[in-house]
Parts: sequence; structure tokens; C-alpha cells
Amino acid sequence: MRRPLVMGNWKMHGTTASVSELLDGLGGLDAPATEVAVCPSYVHIPQALAACHGTGISVGAQDCSHAREGAYTGEISASMLTDLGCQWVILGHSERRQYHDESDALIAAKLAAALDAGLSPVLCVGETRDEREAGDAESVVAAQLRGALEGQKSLAQVTIAYEPVWAIGTGLTASPAQAQAMHAFLRQALAGLAGEALAAQARLLYGGSVKPDNAAELFEQPDIDGALVGGASLKAGDFRQIIQAAGPRG
Ligand code: PGA
Repeated sequence: MRRPLVMGNWKMHGTTASVSELLDGLGGLDAPATEVAVCPSYVHIPQALAACHGTGISVGAQDCSHAREGAYTGEISASMLTDLGCQWVILGHSERRQYHDESDALIAAKLAAALDAGLSPVLCVGETRDEREAGDAESVVAAQLRGALEGQKSLAQVTIAYEPVWAIGTGLTASPAQAQAMHAFLRQALAGLAGEALAAQARLLYGGSVKPDNAAELFEQPDIDGALVGGASLKAGDFRQIIQAAGPRG
């Protein structure tokens, strides 16, 4: 049985005051069946860790360096994140692929660094609208998956987030059937890379305009094990509703 995971990706949003307000708004969560995590910007991570202490909400980063340490001005290493108390790191987000030209090879190196440091990576994959319309959605995500995961020492700690690029921040969501079809495909592809047993226990999150009014029908799908939530995770009330929707199924 896979425990649902709902993770907020706050992207480059927030001030110390707004982060404090948002975390206050998540206080007293009563969703024991669901794992909840937030990924603030780097500078707000210590604040989030302090506020989340003892709440059951864990904290992650939105990226990390491929390098372990050294002369990499401006970079943050995976071990710096574990040293602070982070549990998670989002890798391969489409905004990193698009605006920072991140290749599958670089994402694979970051993923290896994250695993070595004891972080649990959330690997994002997803096709653009053009790729979907050309009928290439499956081959694109399969290549992204293989590119990041092939040859890694262990994949037990890896979570996958399927985030169709055309659905991120656009208000467009993959239909539950479209999302389920891709999640089933990804689980099969993961089985090919890491074996049936690991694929059966791996959590596959959906991301892309998840909101309180579409979360429940997405979570009803058998291969959707939670969500990576952008915009709606910045509003405590909306994020709480999404977390509740992920709660015990059936
Ligand atoms: P969104 O972002 O929920 O605002 O579409 C999701 C993401 O980019 O992780």
C-alpha cells in the first residue's frame, strides 16, 4: 500500500512574513494517512524547518547541485540540505529544464548526489503540448525517466512526478484518465528499469494545476499516489483541502 504524498512547490515566492503566515495556516493538520511536505526557496528552508518541527510536515528543496562540494559559486549541495534537516529535493522540474537548459545527464548527476547525501529525490518528467499533439508524450517521458535513473545505485528512495508542461501554472489539468494512463505507463517503464517490486511500491505524483476542485478525482486513479502542487500550495486553505482529498481512499 503506497502512502499518498502531497508536496508543495513554492517556487520563487514568499517573504519571511508570508512564509510564516502560510506555515501558520498549515498548523494542526490532521491527515495521518497522508505524507505532507513543502519545498520553499532555499532562503526560507531554515524558517520552514523550524516552523514544521513536530508537525509531521517535512521540508525539501527545489533543486541541488550535481557537485558534492567545491568552487561552484552560487550552488547549494545536497549534503548542505541534509545537514539543515531537509528530507526531499525536487529535480528535473520543467522550469529548470526550460530556463536553465538542464539535460537528462545533469539531472542524473544531481540525482546521484542527492541519493549519496541521503535526500529523497522527486524526479519530474513531462511532455510539452507540441510533444503531446505529435503523439510523442510517452516516448518523451520514458526518455526523461531513463536518462535520469539508468545506472543509479538504488532507486528505492526516488519518487516520480508526472507534470505535463502544458498543465503547469496554466489552469489546464490533464484529465484523470489522461493522467492515469501516463502514470500506468510510467510505472511499467520504472519496472523495466528497476524491477516490478520497486515499481509497485514507488510513489508517482501528478503535478500541473492541481486545485481543491480537481484533486479528488485525480487521487481516485489507481496509479496516482499524490500531487506536486505549485500555485495552490501557496494558499493554506487550498493546500489543506488538497491534502484532505488525498486522505484514505475508498
Ligand atoms: P502548478 O505547478 O500547480 O502551479 O501548476 C506545479 C509545479 O510546477 O510543480
